[in-house]
Amino acid sequence: MATQLHDVRTRTRRLTEDLSTRQLMGPMLPIVNPVLWEIGHVGWFHEYWTLRHAHGEAPGLDRADVLWNSSTVAHATRWDLNLPDRNGVFAYMADVLGRQVGRLSGGVDAGTRYFYELSIRHEDMHVEALAYTRQTLGYARPDGLGHPADQNAGPWPGDASVSGGRWRLGSTGADGFIFDNEKWAHEVGIAPFRIAKAPVTNAEFAAFVRAGGYRNRQFWSAAGWAWREGTGAERPVYWLETDGGYGTWRRYQEVEPLAPHAPVMFVNWYEAEAWCRWAKRRLPTEAEWEAAALGEAAANGSCLADSKRRWPWGEAAPSSEHTNLGFAFDGPLDVAGCAAGDSAFGCRQMIGNVWEWTASDFVPLPGFAADPYEDYSRPWFNTRKVLRGGSWATSARIARPGYRNFFTPERNDVIAGFRTCAL
Ligand SMILES: [Fe+2]
Repeated sequence: MATQLHDVRTRTRRLTEDLSTRQLMGPMLPIVNPVLWEIGHVGWFHEYWTLRHAHGEAPGLDRADVLWNSSTVAHATRWDLNLPDRNGVFAYMADVLGRQVGRLSGGVDAGTRYFYELSIRHEDMHVEALAYTRQTLGYARPDGLGHPADQNAGPWPGDASVSGGRWRLGSTGADGFIFDNEKWAHEVGIAPFRIAKAPVTNAEFAAFVRAGGYRNRQFWSAAGWAWREGTGAERPVYWLETDGGYGTWRRYQEVEPLAPHAPVMFVNWYEAEAWCRWAKRRLPTEAEWEAAALGEAAANGSCLADSKRRWPWGEAAPSSEHTNLGFAFDGPLDVAGCAAGDSAFGCRQMIGNVWEWTASDFVPLPGFAADPYEDYSRPWFNTRKVLRGGSWATSARIARPGYRNFFTPERNDVIAGFRTCAL
């Protein structure tokens, strides 16, 4: 556990320590936090749930709750707080970490361990948010996070056929640390379907843009068209139009070539929906996504077996042969990469590279009850869409196949693409 705390903190530091004082505050936008606030909040979350809640310690900083409790400090006010300076925030975080490591050296029981696992995963989520915040704000590419992502594996076209049948959607007590919104696994019926072996690529998305997809109302839902009209979007948010084509994009603060066979990323749910309507495809439901990732055909091949794999490729822990997770690489690989990670049905990169939007609304599973961190899921039900699978910036702790990520459908700043099903 102490190793995990140090490991995730190294990433937080690599994503923040090189930023200037001005960059640590940044502009007020609804989709980002001030970085200086965000990392203090990460330290506060560790302290609140492990040292204070689980161990009963007193607060280490009197004002910590007033500054960093995300449930009570309204987003728009986070730029106006009297935060400690950079050295003060890093010192607070280091103090909390030092006290956690001291507690862990004495051993902790299972109930306490839960809160360490929670706060480590919370920092994992903010690490990914810091990575896409740097993209949103056009800051420099972070140093020392992942091997350069070579993009030469190429496309991986075609559909896989997935048997229908009964599927256990959700997680169980045997899955290790899980979040409240995954509880509990329950049976759903799935009709046989065909799903793409890989996510939609930049080249495939560019064909929609070139065909006038962003100007053609018929491909958009009412809400999607309202978003498109309101923003004036003509293409994915970071793409640059040069000579009538879409060969480049803004990556962090540089202009770089757009890799044709890498998955399209930084597209929102509306853009995914419009691409589908244009291509005569559809997004998978959560249950379909899980069955394609973790299911196996029954012995007679006619329906889904009762089995559910731990990972798409089986039981082995994730490696960079299976998946691009946790900054294995510093960006997405081509969709044909990571062949060793194929699912039983032949779907590639279900885990890692980019999050995948699903058709499903973020709703509670039957029997939902909130875990101690009550604001993790419950405030967000019914207003978000579910994403699955994790991105190159997601830790393997988070990107378990059962993990349900959720964002509002207009968010095009997260590391998300999509995979489609045949109609
Ligand atoms: Fe948070």
